[in-house]
Amino acid sequence: MSREMPRVVFTPSGKRGQVPAGTTVLEGARQLGVDLDSVCGGRGICSKCQISPGRGAFPKHGLSVAEDALSPLNDVERRYDEKRGLAPGRRLGCQARILADVVIDVPPESQLHRQVVRKAAEVRAVETDPATRLCLVEMAEPDLHAPSGDLQRLNAALADQWDLPPAACPLSVLSRLQPALRKGGWTVTLALHRGASGPEILDIWPGFFEAPLCGLAIDLGSTTIALHLTDLATGEVIASSGAMNPQIRFGEDLMSRVSYAMMNPGGAAEMTAAVRATLDGLAAGIATEAGIDPRCIVEAALVGNPVMHHLLLGIDPVELGQAPFALATSEAATLPAAALGIGSINPEARAYLLPLIAGHVGADAAAVALSEAPETSDDLTLIVDVGTNAEILLGDRTRVLACSSPTGPAFEGAQISAGQRAAPGAIERVRIDPETKEPRFRVIGCELWSDDPGFAAALGPAGVTGICGSGIIEAVAEMRMAGLVDGSGLIGSAAQTGSDRCRPEGRTQSYLLLAGAATGGRDIAVTQGDIRAIQLAKSALYAGARLLMDRRGVDRVDRVVLAGAFGAHISPLHAMVLGMIPDVPLDRVRSAGNAAGTGARIALCSVAARRLIEENVRRIEKVETAIEPRFQDHFVAANALPHASDPFPELARIAPLPRVDFNTGGSRGEGEGRRRRRPR
Ligand code: FES
Repeated sequence: MSREMPRVVFTPSGKRGQVPAGTTVLEGARQLGVDLDSVCGGRGICSKCQISPGRGAFPKHGLSVAEDALSPLNDVERRYDEKRGLAPGRRLGCQARILADVVIDVPPESQLHRQVVRKAAEVRAVETDPATRLCLVEMAEPDLHAPSGDLQRLNAALADQWDLPPAACPLSVLSRLQPALRKGGWTVTLALHRGASGPEILDIWPGFFEAPLCGLAIDLGSTTIALHLTDLATGEVIASSGAMNPQIRFGEDLMSRVSYAMMNPGGAAEMTAAVRATLDGLAAGIATEAGIDPRCIVEAALVGNPVMHHLLLGIDPVELGQAPFALATSEAATLPAAALGIGSINPEARAYLLPLIAGHVGADAAAVALSEAPETSDDLTLIVDVGTNAEILLGDRTRVLACSSPTGPAFEGAQISAGQRAAPGAIERVRIDPETKEPRFRVIGCELWSDDPGFAAALGPAGVTGICGSGIIEAVAEMRMAGLVDGSGLIGSAAQTGSDRCRPEGRTQSYLLLAGAATGGRDIAVTQGDIRAIQLAKSALYAGARLLMDRRGVDRVDRVVLAGAFGAHISPLHAMVLGMIPDVPLDRVRSAGNAAGTGARIALCSVAARRLIEENVRRIEKVETAIEPRFQDHFVAANALPHASDPFPELARIAPLPRVDFNTGGSRGEGEGRRRRRPR
């Protein structure tokens, strides 16, 4: 052991080295590249630098730690302990000096870079690395003999104490600079943003300010908008809220909104104003609800498909409605949140928009890529983000491909006779007994199944109001498994299926899920038209996936990830019975929940993640489904349930499908029956 150059080991990072005796733990950590937080720059004010020194022998590290390895508690620490309390064994890293060999533990709350999202083991951890942080600065008072501006002396102090180049100071902050400096006794806390061309001061508080800085992760979907108020330093979500996208009144789906912009002068501007007003209202509401000073919300990260992205920016999306689907810009952008109409948070807050992948594959898909990191996977992984448009990624360590496929709104319950959005009263789960052909179901907002005692009472007065996206998928898949629907998607008659629930409706059949008389409401049935709508949607999804598989020259994938709020509710078995996704073992299908929202949150809290996704998006190979001749072939073949030609051996193993054919009334092999139908 050397008393001149003691050895120091930091845990949990394992970083080690030697430092001159007398070095503070904070300085030692900086020299060795150890992640130890500090807002006050080592003045003993912020307490962010707390550490726990070890004692005794550490054979693993080859050193033993003496009682006096660190300098004794000094006045600053004693004062802090008296006023705020220092947990037993804790020291302030900026005050404790290293005098002999020592092992130092940095607790999670003292690490500047914390894990944003703890995900399944196969996905890497993401650490916080916020673009805006608090910095305490002590600066010189003005001097009549050496006249200089307050901002210039503040910048000199930033260079001296934080080793930073001069920071830009917007007028709104400059106008508050002098009172803040004087009130704080020439000590101020700055919210400093790492801008592309240097630091920018977003806000200033007199003295030491320690409320956490927050940000908004915003997932701007064509149907819904979701906001997550997030602590920038920890990545924790403090509150979430959401609303329907107000642009729905201009058109249900993306293309109808583009048409609205084309047909109505000023239409795009109307949609821009509508979405901005909603975002601003949501931002104000979430701050109030969480009891957070809106001024502490200094960042936002936004993801959305290209049309949503352009409309938010005030760019007419007309070019996205026609080939070659040119984007105004595909690059990530950082701009004042106020320029996007989000004025209810800090007036200087910065908004970061993730990059777009292609004309039809937006920042939402980029966010999914950031969250799911297919480029780090050894397995060939298919990621589908299911919504009105399906964004599809296929890749592994070698290559990642992306496309988007127009599934339409059927998966969200639209275009379905009894369809509705996922809301209380909607059927979300369906099971059909293969013997009796009798259904049972569950409704959003009620824990009981429809055949459980007390179901009717538990339902509440609104009763069963319709069927949502996951409900219709399960219903159609269950009908296929129960032999009520054949491989071509045809519903059998009562005579063919043996179920009175199959009732003629014009020249086709429908299957009665719930007789309205039972609940005093309307009948809820699955019609032939509903099945056709689901077939069209699922064919588009599968054809997109298949196109990417063609590009990779494969017939199988190793894993499937279902993303999107809706993906979280799709049962993998039912998705596979319908042939929405390629055949894989069921335990290789995972739901990633709202991966786009997660990606937004990662980008919100990490500059490194922003740079990573900007880099990765450039490498992702884009496949344009609209101009790929094979898309149509794949689409037609995917119309059958589960598929006209692709084998589904895993599915056959766990859920062999009945060989029925209702086109002729016979019961021939599936393949024959399917080919008789004219593809749509
Ligand atoms: S760095 Fe602020 S108290 Fe130690």
